[in-house]
Amino acid sequence: MGIIKHFINQTRKPEGILGTLMLRGMNSGHAVLADWALSHLPPIAPQMAVDLGCGGGRNVAALLQKYPQAVDDGIDYSPLSVEKAIVYNAASIARGKSTISVGDVSDLKIASGTYDLATAFETIYFWPGLEKCFSNVHRILKNDGCFLIVCESDGTDGMGERYEKIIQGMKVYKAAEIESALRTAGFKDIKTVHHDKHPWIAVLAIK
Ligand SMILES: C[S@@+](CC[C@H](N)C(=O)[O-])C[C@H]1O[C@@H](n2cnc3c(N)ncnc32)[C@H](O)[C@@H]1O
Repeated sequence: MGIIKHFINQTRKPEGILGTLMLRGMNSGHAVLADWALSHLPPIAPQMAVDLGCGGGRNVAALLQKYPQAVDDGIDYSPLSVEKAIVYNAASIARGKSTISVGDVSDLKIASGTYDLATAFETIYFWPGLEKCFSNVHRILKNDGCFLIVCESDGTDGMGERYEKIIQGMKVYKAAEIESALRTAGFKDIKTVHHDKHPWIAVLAIK
């Protein structure tokens, strides 16, 4: 695999030097997308929030900024992502406002009904079995808890297809496919917001 392809593949499970560079790039490169999506959350006041597939941890910090009353955790199955997210969020971790840990969305070791809010930025492309993973998110949410899924490709723009060919195990979903998997997993009040210029989507669902 060429170096460029190897670098782009770091989005799936960052590791090593290229993974470190990718995590840094994603923290800054996904910020506008993430903030756009966060602005579409309903008026909620979560006490416990979790960012799933947290990467370099920028969005754990963004959640804490938006909801200062909350404890905001981060989970990622890449030990390197967790290491970098811990550094990024060191101050809030020291204040007891955040924990970042290794975990796989397909097998979450978290008590049922823990969180008021779960977020997933640019990560569901890599989750093995959307319905099963969404069921796991459903389980760890409290009743009426909110799930926000954010993707920079809505599966209709061609970009997704190009990345699927380059990145091993990546699947870009259309909004209708995400919504259907959410319904099967037991979510209600499912709604997709489309960006007016970019093919970005923010999918919101309630337990
Ligand atoms: C493209 S990066 C996005 C990182 C971050 N959310 C952002 O927007 O910058 C995808 C992240 O999801 C993580 N990830 C992929 N599949 C996962 C799974 N099954 N469980 C937990 N984390 C996962 C990867 O390790 C990686 O850090």
